[in-house]
Amino acid sequence: MAIQWFPGHMNKARKDVTERLKDIDVVIELLDARLPASSANPMLARMAKGKPRLMILNKQDLADPAITEQWLAWYRAKKQTEALGMDAGERAPAQRLIAACRALAPNRSGLEKPLRVLICGIPNVGKSTLINSMSSRKIAKTGNMPGVTKNEQRIILADDFELYDTPGMLWPKIEVEESGYNLAASGAVGRNAMDEEEVALELLKYLLRHYRAELAARYKFDVEALDGMQDWQALELIGKRRGAVLSGGRINMQKAAEIVLTDFRDGQTGRITLERPAEWLEWEKRAKVL
Ligand code: G4P
Repeated sequence: MAIQWFPGHMNKARKDVTERLKDIDVVIELLDARLPASSANPMLARMAKGKPRLMILNKQDLADPAITEQWLAWYRAKKQTEALGMDAGERAPAQRLIAACRALAPNRSGLEKPLRVLICGIPNVGKSTLINSMSSRKIAKTGNMPGVTKNEQRIILADDFELYDTPGMLWPKIEVEESGYNLAASGAVGRNAMDEEEVALELLKYLLRHYRAELAARYKFDVEALDGMQDWQALELIGKRRGAVLSGGRINMQKAAEIVLTDFRDGQTGRITLERPAEWLEWEKRAKVL
């Protein structure tokens, strides 16, 4: 699905991040645990090449725990990479985050060589929530320091541990078709940039394949009734069940799509992950061939 991002913002973010990366020891990339690969930024991976990386699978409370485990193992198998699952319910995430970064850069510690960490993530992935829960009184705006962008934040999590918040916004670069749908389903894409009915149909297709029991429980279907059901039939049925009906008895598919998407985003449909490592490899392979 084509999504209209803003290339101007992207270029500025790229410049700012490249500048900041020069004296950074560890890069944290915050991912959405429901769509880890799609919410990653391939541009960041290229820019941060060679630096130790910590992948945080955030919003794990909304994701399928078994699939989160698969993704954590996938990232941990990469060179110089650690991965953690997190969510906003965690009271003091700083300790785990600091420990993981220290293990990635063991030669940086003490006031002479403070560990400098950059945290990045696409919009809506939960970066502000995580930073707020870690920082309380410790945020230092660094606008008047040389070489630091005006709105950049430096958060002192320990005397020898500095966390920099990425200036600007890093949008995902969509190289795989499924990523567009998954980002849209997650709420990372503004309503004006997508067709909600199309996104809801793709979501239902995935749920019918992998999460039938959850779908049946949420909309009070018999699981057996979902056998062989098409995405559009499921959308119609959900519309009917939820009273999304137009005059003359026709289903209001737009309203039904909104219901499906809102339920998914709020976790009402259950703990669901929209991509698995093995699937992602397939999607990537296909995207390269096309
Ligand atoms: P950003 O800075 O990366 O753009 O994201 P932000 O922290 O603003 O979070 C985006 C949305 O995701 C917020 O919801 C936030 O509450 C929610 N969120 C962040 N972390 C988690 C998490 O671990 N689990 C869950 N379930 N949600 C999380 P919102 O609806 O935009 O705002 P509100 O709920 O705070 O009103």
